[in-house]
Order: sequence, then structure tokens, then C-alpha cells
Amino acid sequence: MATLRLGDTAPNFTAQSSIGELNLHEYLGDSWGILFSHPADFTPVCTTELGTTAKYKPEFDKRNVKMIALSVDSVESHKEWIKDINETQQTVVNFPIIADEDRNVSTLYDMIHPKADNSLTVRSVFIIAPDKTIKLILTYPASTGRNFKELLRVIDSLQLTAYHKVATPANWEQGDDVVVSPAIATEDAKKIFTKGVTEIKPYLRMTPQPNL
Ligand code: BEZ
Repeated sequence: MATLRLGDTAPNFTAQSSIGELNLHEYLGDSWGILFSHPADFTPVCTTELGTTAKYKPEFDKRNVKMIALSVDSVESHKEWIKDINETQQTVVNFPIIADEDRNVSTLYDMIHPKADNSLTVRSVFIIAPDKTIKLILTYPASTGRNFKELLRVIDSLQLTAYHKVATPANWEQGDDVVVSPAIATEDAKKIFTKGVTEIKPYLRMTPQPNL
């Protein structure tokens, strides 16, 4: 199995999930996708992560992003656990959780890291663009819950930089100035970015976020 890298096509699969059989590419359609694994059902950090994902659905919807969770537990286990998530996190789980009992998807996406845990998935994140290419890969250990605000921030950056010749600087958030792509000469940048370009160094040019 080759390691997945940025720019690779997200391997397609059909798997059982809490909402029935799910084919990744068909389910995503023209949407962006976030496929993310967690170690196990009925565990505390995972419960908070999936509750947070459900609460953020309006934010993911705004960005045309579909969330898909995964662990190696069964559909029956997911359905029982969803009741606990809804109760304890005061939400309603509104996205599928894949039941990867045969480890098919975990193996395709290299979500089991044997030196961390021999049989359970780590906290992997794959952001998939509408053309099905992988745009971001993150791996967290079981003991560290992910920051879902960061996932929204990254989506904002990926969607902005997909359509404008800019990059986003450290700690960038919606509305902050952005960096002019290094491939553009400053003279050309001044014509493209009509809100203005500030040249701090020839290689460091800032401009207001162009899509606001
Ligand atoms: C958790 O989700 O709380 C968890 C899962 C596996 C190992 C440690 C923590």
C-alpha cells in the first residue's frame, strides 16, 4: 500500500455506516469532504469530538463540506453510541460514521499506526476537494482531541487559495490580509489585487482578502 500524499485522488470505497451503505465518491458528489477517524466508540475524547462535529454542521454546510467519521466498531455500536453523544453533548449527530470492522478503509488510508495502537485507528483527518484530490492530511494521537475550529479555518484557506492567487499567513483567519502568491510579480499583483498591495520585501507582499 502506497502512502497517501497531498494531491493524490482519495481512494474510493463502499462501506457500511450509521446511515447505511456509503460510497465515498458518490456521497461527496460536488462537495468538499472531511474523512476523519477516531479510536473507538464509547470513549470520552471521541464523544466530545463527534458532538462538536454535529454542532458545527451549519458552519460545514456553509462551506459545502460533508463530514464522515470512522472507527473500527460496528454499525450497531455506532447507533448505540450516537444516543450517548446526543444526550451528553446536547446535539443530534447529523453525519455518517463508517463501521470499518474489516479495516478496509483504515488500511486504504493508513489510519492504523501499529506503534501507537495495533488495532485501533488514530485520529486521522483527510480533507478532500470536489475533484476528489486530497488537500490536507493531519494525524493526532488518541489522547489529543482535534480542534474543529482549525478545520473550518483550513477549509476557508483551501477554498480561498483554490480560486485566488494568494496564500494565507500564520494564524490567518477570515478577513485578515493574505500573502500574494510568490509566482506573481509585484507589478502584476497591483493590477490583480485592486484593494492594494503592500510590498514588505520583494518576496513578501500583502493584500486584503480578495473575496470579501
Ligand atoms: C478517547 O476518545 O477518550 C480515547 C480513545 C482512545 C484512547 C484514549 C482516549
